[in-house]
Amino acid sequence: MSDQAEVLRRIVGNMNNGLAAPENRKTEKRARIITITSGKGGVGKTSVTVNLAIALSRLGLRIAILDVDFGLANVDLLFGITPKHTLLDLIRDEKSIFEVMTDGPNNIKFLSGGSGVEELTRLDRKKLRKFISNIALLDKLYDIILIDTGAGLSRNVMSFIMAADEIILVTTPEPTAITDAYALVKMVSRRDRKKIIRILVNKAETAREAEDIANRLLVVSEKFLSLKLNKLGYILYDDNIVKAVKLQKPFCLSNPKSQAARSMFALADALVENRNSDDLLGARGFIQRVLSFFGA
Ligand SMILES: Nc1ncnc2c1ncn2[C@@H]1O[C@H](COP(=O)(O)OP(=O)(O)O)[C@@H](O)[C@H]1O
Ligand SMILES: [Mg+2]
Repeated sequence: MSDQAEVLRRIVGNMNNGLAAPENRKTEKRARIITITSGKGGVGKTSVTVNLAIALSRLGLRIAILDVDFGLANVDLLFGITPKHTLLDLIRDEKSIFEVMTDGPNNIKFLSGGSGVEELTRLDRKKLRKFISNIALLDKLYDIILIDTGAGLSRNVMSFIMAADEIILVTTPEPTAITDAYALVKMVSRRDRKKIIRILVNKAETAREAEDIANRLLVVSEKFLSLKLNKLGYILYDDNIVKAVKLQKPFCLSNPKSQAARSMFALADALVENRNSDDLLGARGFIQRVLSFFGA
């Protein structure tokens, strides 16, 4: 694995030679990469990802989604769109990133991971080179790349968490979801103390309950890990979200006036206001971090 990591580093090193001179780098456009994750499954990551994508696209931002979960209720399903291609076609069939991305609503493009996610860790040099250069192409085309991961602390999920500029950590009020969220914060803090972690409480009964949970996570992380988390906001429990998922229509599109959609629009506003562009590494930085994770 470490041989492979070395090869990867060299490939990226070569790619970086083509970058603009350092004084011009500031003006070079980079995508902001946000990984949506959770400690426990079923907390609403995918639902948040697709609706947040819609909310952000309404702000005029160009959004791409990388779906890197193996699970069943994935991005394509929530959009109600069957993808013609997946990540597997990108790695196996020599297709370009533009050919494997599927059109979603509002000009959103998404890449379905499928079984290609696992395959990523087993690629030979040639295919890795192709995958890496393909992902790097997204930097210029999108303002924000959202990565929807599976739950938990598997190597794959962690690599996408560690690679992103920032994380949206979704939890629900369930005690197991909160403790698993904290376990994830702890794991991330051991590897990178600078990563921005934003807490999103989903399926809370009341605003107060959501605030309480976010505060608890903030206090515990500060006290035991000396780590400062950010509060992104909350979405209340809403039966209409369950219905929207069944109908395969994102609620931000089908019911933009609903409370849930308005909460999501507020979350999108908060995310955009909190942008700190100097900290962005973009897709190239993202790849560097994936590599350093594989080499770790
Ligand atoms: N705010 C909410 N209120 C009610 N149900 C929700 C809410 N958010 C998500 N759900 C439901 O929770 C289930 C899991 O959501 P999903 O987005 O697939 O979670 P994950 O991606 O974390 O596994 C879905 O059936 C969805 O309808
Ligand atoms: Mg999911």
